[in-house]
Amino acid sequence: MEDRVKIFDKSFRIYIREQEIQQGVLKCAMELNMKYANCSSPPLVISLLNGAAFFTVDLVRRLEFMTKVDFIKYSSYDGLDTTGEHKRLIGLKESIEGQDVILVDDIIDSGYTIQRVVELVKEQSPKSITVVALIYKPTTIKTDVNIDHYAIKMLDDAFIVGYGLDYNEVGRTLSDIYILD
Ligand code: IMP
Ligand code: MG
Repeated sequence: MEDRVKIFDKSFRIYIREQEIQQGVLKCAMELNMKYANCSSPPLVISLLNGAAFFTVDLVRRLEFMTKVDFIKYSSYDGLDTTGEHKRLIGLKESIEGQDVILVDDIIDSGYTIQRVVELVKEQSPKSITVVALIYKPTTIKTDVNIDHYAIKMLDDAFIVGYGLDYNEVGRTLSDIYILD
């Protein structure tokens, strides 16, 4: 548990410690445990790779109801440009129709990513969608997408790494979260 890390050219300092992150994960899990206590069939947890994988694994182990778990990517088609229009959900089962979906993402910054993902999931006619985020930034969100549950609310507008969040794909494996110095 270092107080500083260097990733490529950038220096980061400790921002949220593992213990506080795990308290946030537990808070989220308890909210979901209340919400789904009496659900008739196991909801489908859909986790957005790569960032949300770490959070998702910790979260689902604290759930007191049965779930299915799927990991998907929101990525561009190979060979096409990288504008949002060409992005799709890779790995999503065709038959999520009629299921209760719990969509898990790492960080909601502008909210455009999760908004688009929610739209694409809705096209598959799930029974319900609950959005869960590790980090929710209420001051930077620019869409009216509903974030139902979050582990940590972040008020600083700054770049962070760790616990799934990366800087050029590095830093995800840190147990604590670090902020750009
Ligand atoms: P949004 O579309 O602006 O909400 O951005 C969401 C996506 O951008 C997240 O899923 C992350 O992949 C990435 N992102 C946004 N802020 C950060 C950050 O502070 N650190 C690492 N990745 C971030
Ligand atoms: Mg992401």
